[in-house]
Order: sequence, then C-alpha cells, then structure tokens
Amino acid sequence: MIVIGCDHGGLELKQTLITYLTSIGEGVTDCGTYNSDSVDYPDIAEKTCKRYLDGGYDFGILICGTGIGISMAANKIDGIRCALVGTEYAAEMTKRHNDANFLAFGGRVMGPELAISVLKAYMNAEFEGGRHQKRIDKIHALEAQEETE
Ligand code: RB5
Repeated sequence: MIVIGCDHGGLELKQTLITYLTSIGEGVTDCGTYNSDSVDYPDIAEKTCKRYLDGGYDFGILICGTGIGISMAANKIDGIRCALVGTEYAAEMTKRHNDANFLAFGGRVMGPELAISVLKAYMNAEFEGGRHQKRIDKIHALEAQEETE
C-alpha cells in the first residue's frame, strides 16, 4: 500500500504514478490535492506523511513543481526520510543506503516515463542495513536533539 500527495504543481504526475501503481496491482491512498487550485505544499506534506505514520503503508510519494519544497517540509516530520530523486541510480541507492520511506518528484521538471522508471528502481531495491542503519539512527537522533533545544 502506497500513500501519495501533491500540490498543484504535481497534479498531472501524481495521476500518472497512480495509474502506473494501480496497473501493477498496488493499492494507493491519494491525499490530494485533487484539482489545479493553488495549495501550499507543506500542508500536503503534513497530511500525506501523517497518513503514512498511521501505519499500513510501504512508502509514500510527494510531488510539487520541483519536488524541493515538499521534500523539505516532509523531512521536518519525525520519522520521515524523504528523498528527492532525479535518476534511477539515486532512487536505488536511497532505498539501499538511506531506507527512504518517501520519494519526492518534481512534476514540472520530470517527464512521466522517467518518473515511472525512477519509481521502479526504488521499488526493486532492498535496504542493506548494517552500517547504513547506524547512520539512519543518527539522522533520527538529530530529531530528538531539535526537540530538546
Ligand atoms: C508552487 O508554485 C511551487 O512553488 C511548488 O510546487 C514547489 O515547486 C515548491 O518547491
């Protein structure tokens, strides 16, 4: 099960990815936005990430115009490791080394075919654990530091 959200800059690519995921038998929860009216990407990041954290999802996808703002917002939420990916290599490696639980895409900077190919690369990869887990633990230790400051 996959959760997905976008702002108005990612609407078209969101629909492309939902169609692809559904075609391969994946369940998808669509957290919006649902039309081209302007919305604020932090609101979509918050809604989509909180849905993911409720449990039951394999990973999440966020899309805005560049993918930058929505990934920045997502990474402020404890427990979220959102990777803005532009290549298959980065998508594979963010699964293998960072165990990213969210992918971000830029709907205005990436075509549909590349986006699907990048998504596939992530979905076909496995987290390697070991020394990479220690580093992820250090990322989340930074969240705890922020809270006590
Ligand atoms: C919205 O115009 C745009 O700023 C947003 O989609 C995103 O690209 C921000 O990073």
